[in-house]
Amino acid sequence: MNVSATDRERLPGLLKAMPKAELHIHIEGSLEPELIFALARRNGVKLACDSVEALRRAYAFTDLQSFLDIYYAGASVLLTEQDFHDMAMAYFARAAADNVVHAELFFDPQTHTDRGVPFKTVIDGLTRACDAAHHEYGISTALIMCFLRHLSEEAAFATLEEALPYRGRYIGVGLDSGERGNPPEKFARVFARCRELGLHLVAHAGEEGPPDYIRSALDVLKVERIDHGVRCVEDPALMQRLAAERIPLTVCPLSNVKLRVYEDMSRHRIGALLDAGICATVNSDDPAYFGGYLNENFRATFDALPQLGISQAHKLASNSYAASFVEPSRKREWQSELDALFERP
Ligand code: ADE
Ligand code: ZN
Repeated sequence: MNVSATDRERLPGLLKAMPKAELHIHIEGSLEPELIFALARRNGVKLACDSVEALRRAYAFTDLQSFLDIYYAGASVLLTEQDFHDMAMAYFARAAADNVVHAELFFDPQTHTDRGVPFKTVIDGLTRACDAAHHEYGISTALIMCFLRHLSEEAAFATLEEALPYRGRYIGVGLDSGERGNPPEKFARVFARCRELGLHLVAHAGEEGPPDYIRSALDVLKVERIDHGVRCVEDPALMQRLAAERIPLTVCPLSNVKLRVYEDMSRHRIGALLDAGICATVNSDDPAYFGGYLNENFRATFDALPQLGISQAHKLASNSYAASFVEPSRKREWQSELDALFERP
């Protein structure tokens, strides 16, 4: 469908102003090089790069693993509760500027506990920042703890054990890190336990891994949302199922280009996902590494894909509320605000 000239003019302003929920942001992926250096100095941590510019130059990724190596090295500067707080507050300032009204943040406890940082330090710093985000910016927040899939299921169980005393501070669990060779089935038992505990369940699948990983995340792990999931386009029956069962996909366009899932943004298939009736959303994944926060993801996507116009912008914002883990009354409030914004001449 072609987008009219008037719609094209209104689009940039609407994309910026729309209230949005961000559902796929790794808080460790919001660590900007400047903050990495400031925290390294504060904590006496030695870094492999000797300047912010050299670090930025190293952000030339060839695939997911080449990114993860740098991302885990960046996270090594996080040692104290204040560090986790400061990192999350820097993200919330950016999120507020992008009209994010709700954020569900991933964090990777094992990246920190394996370096000797107590789980309590991580969760206390993040919880304090979440409370401050609500007071300072009116953003509602939730935390989702991810298990690293390149580690064992036993290690995930040990992390769950450490996290249980803080059960009220996070709403669910996810699965991230290197996808290839680490299928969802590897974590069947720990996800079953988390389900018994009443936690929300999500998993990265179909980012680099095949469409079958999306199927097993649904059938074996019983997740409620798929993170990324873009490779479902290779499997029309799976696309139909995602649409029919209203399984949201948290899509991250700039990440997909930086990690070479797509050669460039003009090849992104988010339009096809929406056309198929899938509840796709736009998210930033690791914004400090991939070239932009949420509004920049919207801008880059809509600039590169001429078939996306006002109705897709409205749909993506609506999907972000629908896919969030908040109560229906809050979703309705955001929806009314969005509808009013789009109805204005
Ligand atoms: N951890 C941080 N970002 C990730 C991504 N895009 N995929 C898998 N694991 C991640
Ligand atoms: Zn991710």
